[in-house]
Amino acid sequence: MNHIQHLFVKNILAGRETSLHAQGNAFAAANIALCKYWGKRDVALNLPLNSSLSISLGALGTKTTLQCAAGDRVVLNGEEQAPSSSFARRICAFLDLFRPWLGEGGVEVRTENNIPTAAGLASSASGFAALVRALDAWAGWELDGRSLSMLARLGSGSAARSVFTGFVEWHAGSAVDGSDSYAEPLPLSWPALRVGVLELSGARKPVGSRDGMKRTVETSALYAAWPQQAMDDLAVLRRAITEQDFAAFGQAAERNALSMHATMLSAWPPLIYLQPESLAMIHAVHRLRSEGMEVYLTIDAGPNIKLLYLAENEAEIASTFPSVQSIAPFA
Ligand code: PMV
Repeated sequence: MNHIQHLFVKNILAGRETSLHAQGNAFAAANIALCKYWGKRDVALNLPLNSSLSISLGALGTKTTLQCAAGDRVVLNGEEQAPSSSFARRICAFLDLFRPWLGEGGVEVRTENNIPTAAGLASSASGFAALVRALDAWAGWELDGRSLSMLARLGSGSAARSVFTGFVEWHAGSAVDGSDSYAEPLPLSWPALRVGVLELSGARKPVGSRDGMKRTVETSALYAAWPQQAMDDLAVLRRAITEQDFAAFGQAAERNALSMHATMLSAWPPLIYLQPESLAMIHAVHRLRSEGMEVYLTIDAGPNIKLLYLAENEAEIASTFPSVQSIAPFA
């Protein structure tokens, strides 16, 4: 963690008194972007080149508890992580940003993920959002949602959105200091909306989002078209959510995801996150749609497909895709 990040945290915590409670507890839901964040304008502060919009995944997410310990300890799903592991190092480096407010001692971080790991749902989003909310509860800072979102953003960009639930928009912002790049929940709900998570087997480990974004921004000729495409898709999504226009909603989300993959495919070396199973699934969804079923898909930087459909089609989706985990974000 560098000087710029320390300064950013210092500005947000300016004037806050710390009074450590015995523990700090928090839950944050995972989110799936309907309009994707792909490309950074600042790497240290995780400032994006485009705004994004997500839906949170109900009870799927991360629960984190913090308390004092002799030295730092990171426990993930009941298993103590080696201090040299990339998971523990990433969390401890993030905690380093807050040490001046937490005192000399170590921190015990207990974190539980109930996200299906093979489904390629980013646990870093709910992970850093839960960590920031747990820090706030532990230290008694009582930060507002905007500040929590900006702090979570430093851990992982998409974590800025996981601080909230429901439909969440992350404003890219334009300030160099990152002070206007935060997420906000949209005051809209859509009780009939369903997100179907499919676990594909044989998924190989992709290039991480940080390196993938950098490579795309630096080498893909198609990337020049992406920020405008994302802006247009975001406007369509906002309107479609307001009017509960599912066809417009699904089309914008699917087109946005495939446009992001087009920028990845045209990077060099090419970033091909899709696997044969992913393509088979995409064609299966398109076949269903040609038969009249209203189902759309979205894909992150990995091989896995998430389906978008309405409650009225839940039974048919479940019989077509027996392994689907159907999530009702507003239930
Ligand atoms: O927050 P990161 O660095 O894990 O990047 C997330 C990138 C995507 O999942 C592909 C898109 C998004 O907006 O979540």
